[in-house]
Amino acid sequence: MSSQVHVVIIGASFAGIPIAHSLLKDIPTVKVTLINPSPTFYFTIAAPAFSRSEMPSNPNNIFFQSKRSSADTQQNHSNLSKAANISFDYLVIASGSTTASTSQKTAVPIPFKQSDSDDMKSMIHNAQDSIRMAESIVIAGAGPIGVEVAGEIAEAARQSGRKVKITLVSASYRILPMLKPAGSAAAEKLLTGLGVEIVKNQKVAEAVQSKESHLWTVTLDEGRKLDVDLYIPTTGVLPNNDFIPADLLDENGWVVVDKELRVKTRRGSVARLPIFAAGDITNNSMRLSFKAQEQAAIVAANLKAEIVRQGKTKTYDQGDKTMMVVPVGSTGGTGLIMGWTPWSAMVKMVKGKDFFISKAHSAVSAK
Ligand SMILES: Cc1cc2nc3c(=O)[nH]c(=O)nc-3n(C[C@H](O)[C@H](O)[C@H](O)COP(=O)(O)OP(=O)(O)OC[C@H]3O[C@@H](n4cnc5c(N)ncnc54)[C@H](O)[C@@H]3O)c2cc1C
Ligand SMILES: *[C@@H]1O[C@H](CO)[C@@H](O)[C@H](O)[C@H]1NC(C)=O
Ligand SMILES: *[C@@H]1O[C@H](CO)[C@@H](O)[C@H](O)[C@H]1NC(C)=O
Ligand SMILES: *[C@@H]1O[C@H](CO)[C@@H](O)[C@H](O)[C@H]1NC(C)=O
Ligand SMILES: *[C@@H]1O[C@H](CO)[C@@H](O)[C@H](O)[C@H]1NC(C)=O
Repeated sequence: MSSQVHVVIIGASFAGIPIAHSLLKDIPTVKVTLINPSPTFYFTIAAPAFSRSEMPSNPNNIFFQSKRSSADTQQNHSNLSKAANISFDYLVIASGSTTASTSQKTAVPIPFKQSDSDDMKSMIHNAQDSIRMAESIVIAGAGPIGVEVAGEIAEAARQSGRKVKITLVSASYRILPMLKPAGSAAAEKLLTGLGVEIVKNQKVAEAVQSKESHLWTVTLDEGRKLDVDLYIPTTGVLPNNDFIPADLLDENGWVVVDKELRVKTRRGSVARLPIFAAGDITNNSMRLSFKAQEQAAIVAANLKAEIVRQGKTKTYDQGDKTMMVVPVGSTGGTGLIMGWTPWSAMVKMVKGKDFFISKAHSAVSAK
């Protein structure tokens, strides 16, 4: 057994899954353990569309070990809370990120990301119910998630003849500030056409839910107060890092990696054990699924170079080009593709219809 190299991968999503496939395909002697709290793959990209009736369900049950894990990065042991305590030769951290609304304990969680347990179906249904029952909603954050969610909810309400007051709060003076001004303007026009009120240049200072009435009071930083049925924060993503030693994390909690995606300590030395990281959890700032997949390919190549001396060591550079397609409802949208603002009809064609759900299967299968 000792000649068999054991790679443990924590997190089975856009980054972790392709690394596992790639190693198993190219290294005959490798043993891969892929750990994830849930046996189902959650296709996050489609999460803003959960007001539509069908969500992607598990396209494929892959791999094994479930349950939450932790890794001892001083000793080469990985602690799976319910299954085993196993040793590894190489560790890959691909535990990704979550959002505040996914894990909120005091209100109904809005599952933009996977939860810690295997309860996505009921989480989605509960979120759908609370969205359907709400007559007034504040969405904080006018990035792609906030804009997509606002468009989806407004369109669903209109189609079912319900009157819902939706307020989208944008901290910047235009929504989708990462796009060109034309992209922001297109999204704004589509949203206002669907009856969404957009409040610009303001942040949510406080959001409090009443214990009795369950109503939210959302206070904006210039003092305006909004009393609403539902509050959906969509600002920022949070690192899934509670099992990672602090000296491997930067000041914002992301895992520090070098260009080869090897984990470093905050002071710049290499981690004691061979540890790689890929995807949202790293300190690479472009937290997008296709960037996670690009990083996965680098980590897989570098593991192969090290384990079987096959191929060259590769480096990752996130670059400064972003690609983003932002549907607003099912009929249009905007984005940024190779420096261009795509036409609304094109967004509808490539993503608005099904949020790429047709691609969910290829994201988990070896292809
Ligand atoms: C609403 C929304 C819409 C998005 N839309 C787009 C889009 O249109 N295009 C795009 O490119 N990107 C989009 N993104 C970003 C994209 O979802 C992420 O970049 C991508 O999910 C990152 O993949 P990952 O594999 O690094 O991590 P994640 O997808 O976050 O997966 C991490 C996995 O690790 C598991 N895990 C966490 N902790 C542990 C632990 N201790 N032990 C074991 N397992 C653990 C988690 O349960 C999860 O399964 C969107 C994100 C959100 C929130
Ligand atoms: C690690 O193992 C211990 C003992 O079995 C368990 O109590 C703990 O919850 C585990 N931690 C994690 C993060 O899995
Ligand atoms: C896992 O096993 C190793 C060696 O057997 C031991 O040193 C370590 O304490 C164990 N960790 C947990 C959390 O049980
Ligand atoms: C990891 O642990 C196993 C079993 O305890 C050991 O054989 C192996 O050499 C260790 N690997 C590293 C890189 O420390
Ligand atoms: C991540 O952190 C390392 C170490 O501080 C740094 O060299 C690297 O540039 C950071 N990555 C990004 C994308 O900022």
